[in-house]
Amino acid sequence: MNVTLHVWRQPHRAAKGRFVTYPAPDISADMSFLEMLDVVNERLILEGQEPIAFDHDCREGICGTCGMVINGTPHGPKKRTTTCQLHMRSFRDGDELWIEPWRAAAFPVVKDLVVDRSAFDRIIAVGGFISAPIGSAPDANSLPIRKENADLSMDGAACIGCGACVAACPNASAMLFVAAKVTHLGVLPQGLPERNERAIRMVTQMDAEGFGSCTNHGECHAVCPKGIPLEFIGRLNADFLAASMGSGRRAAQVGDSAGG
Ligand code: SF4
Ligand code: FES
Repeated sequence: MNVTLHVWRQPHRAAKGRFVTYPAPDISADMSFLEMLDVVNERLILEGQEPIAFDHDCREGICGTCGMVINGTPHGPKKRTTTCQLHMRSFRDGDELWIEPWRAAAFPVVKDLVVDRSAFDRIIAVGGFISAPIGSAPDANSLPIRKENADLSMDGAACIGCGACVAACPNASAMLFVAAKVTHLGVLPQGLPERNERAIRMVTQMDAEGFGSCTNHGECHAVCPKGIPLEFIGRLNADFLAASMGSGRRAAQVGDSAGG
């Protein structure tokens, strides 16, 4: 395949960025999108040019490190697919591809397609944990958990923290990300002690980092590679409201959390 790339180049955070056009001839349709960028970068290096900076790690869709906006859509045109799992066969010979970094004030550009997502780390640091007694591991199955709650928790745990939800949202809201974390921990008995403080702390930190509010556009769910459901945002709102009204802990405990 022959494709033409228009890539956002920005040497550093304070620099003014711009699109630069690169031809990408003789690309195999079986290459992943990142392998295609690797080939383009090898050619740039041979020509003495600066390679395109982009984030990646596992290249298996599990770490959340990769991410770029391809033709206006975070992670590109294929549903439920991270950038690293996208293949060139999703495009046609002769296509023009516009490649940009996540655009959000809370995710400043570091270089080219790399953004600083440490705001997510700080949100996790204030509430994305459980308190567990130290000592030997408890016996398996000593704490019964309803199947529905185990499934819900696993669905929340599927979030890889990529940030595509923020990049897609017109408000640059991080609500889907926070909702996934709050649901992952809050529906299990192990996550109950901090359930309400968790919602308050994580939402407060999200606001402090400069993410916008949720106004129910649903773009986050549409681009999420793990299909985190919008319903989780309702769960986050319920936890936040219960905690804000001062009856939160009791509401959480008598709700749907523990195993019975
Ligand atoms: S909710 Fe989805 S899009 Fe947002 S960070 Fe998690 S996996 Fe990525
Ligand atoms: S590089 Fe790990 S999810 Fe894409």
